[in-house]
Amino acid sequence: MSGARVLVLGSGGREHALAWALARSPAVAEVVLAPGNAGTLDLGPHLPLPPGFPAPAALDAFADVAVARDVDLVVVGPEAPLAAGVADVLRSRGVATYGPSAAAARLEASKAHAKAFMRAHGVPTAEATTAADAATAHAAVDALSALADGRVVVKASGLAAGKGVTVAATPTEGHAAVAALFAAGEAEVVVEAFLDGDEVSLLVVTDGGAYHVWPQVADHKAAFDGDLGPMTGGMGTVAPANLLDPAELAEVRRTIIEPTLAGLRAEGRPMVGTLFLGLMRTDRGVKLLEYNVRFGDPETQALVPLLRSDAYVLLFAAATGGLADVAPVWSDAACACVVMAAEGYPGTPRTGVAIEIPADLGPDVTVFHAGTARDPEGRLVSAGGRVLGVAAVAADVAGAAAGAYAAVDRIRFPGAHVRRDVGRRLRRW
Ligand code: GLY
Repeated sequence: MSGARVLVLGSGGREHALAWALARSPAVAEVVLAPGNAGTLDLGPHLPLPPGFPAPAALDAFADVAVARDVDLVVVGPEAPLAAGVADVLRSRGVATYGPSAAAARLEASKAHAKAFMRAHGVPTAEATTAADAATAHAAVDALSALADGRVVVKASGLAAGKGVTVAATPTEGHAAVAALFAAGEAEVVVEAFLDGDEVSLLVVTDGGAYHVWPQVADHKAAFDGDLGPMTGGMGTVAPANLLDPAELAEVRRTIIEPTLAGLRAEGRPMVGTLFLGLMRTDRGVKLLEYNVRFGDPETQALVPLLRSDAYVLLFAAATGGLADVAPVWSDAACACVVMAAEGYPGTPRTGVAIEIPADLGPDVTVFHAGTARDPEGRLVSAGGRVLGVAAVAADVAGAAAGAYAAVDRIRFPGAHVRRDVGRRLRRW
């Protein structure tokens, strides 16, 4: 086969968006998805993940498949396989892989480790205490809530799909969050001072040395309008957010991105893939809330529709140490992605609900699937918490959000939970 074969690992909206972007590359002959979702079925063949994935034996089985299919590039979507070492196993088998080693992925897999790394490398962040026992965590809630009118942030140290964070409005809520995490078996809890400001996601694509900063994205992580309710994986995004001005972006490069990439290189675990920064612009400078080590979801769904460059060329260059030789080109339009979640999300989602998506949503709208499946009759049904990401492109954020909501309102998905204020906050900025 002439042309590249790319394997996208994952099944969410982020992976649909990445596969969609890769499939548009003239250099790509085939996009394979493992395991994919109902929306990716028309992009290329789908493979099941080996049983037990991402357990160690299953990582080897997955690498066997990548080698047998003669894949030129694997793009890893989610954090769990990265933390388990899928990129290490693939690289050891000679497969070019977009995604960091397990050692670098610790920046996301352990918030306690990330905090220690930030401190060691002088990266500005919120004051915090890592606690392996409830008494220490409760004492930290008392001490740190006193710094911010009673507000405090409590985080599970381990991976929690964006749902392990509680922004407590009172010390009582903070204590309850600590108790709930330890009761659920969490071994370490990070208690952080609350930072007031505007939050923005910044995705940095890197080969470990060279890096590109992608346009700023505003995520809407709380379940309900007005940023109320429990945290979710993300209920909607807009790009470009342009919250940070050029001077602040330069500060982020100098105080966060470069010390992080240099620190990882110095420790022999360079970041290859996406360094995703959750940032807070405060009146005392820009602070790092957290690291992720992969593309954001749903940040990616609002970014790739604006990417004018060849996604394969960029990601292959990042995976193989050639990023200094390429540069992304971006549309000057804006994109909004509104998530349609299942009834019950972020609690137990209602699945098996039939969904109908009109075929004529227009050229500026793309529906990225996440938790979808085909039932035995072939109907599209919900099969997860976040089900669809409806992305629309327009000249500005307000127009993009209006376009996304117009499309959402034409999709038949009984009981869907949708935030109605995606992008509204940005219009105030
Ligand atoms: N949208 C936040 C995340 O991907 O973690």
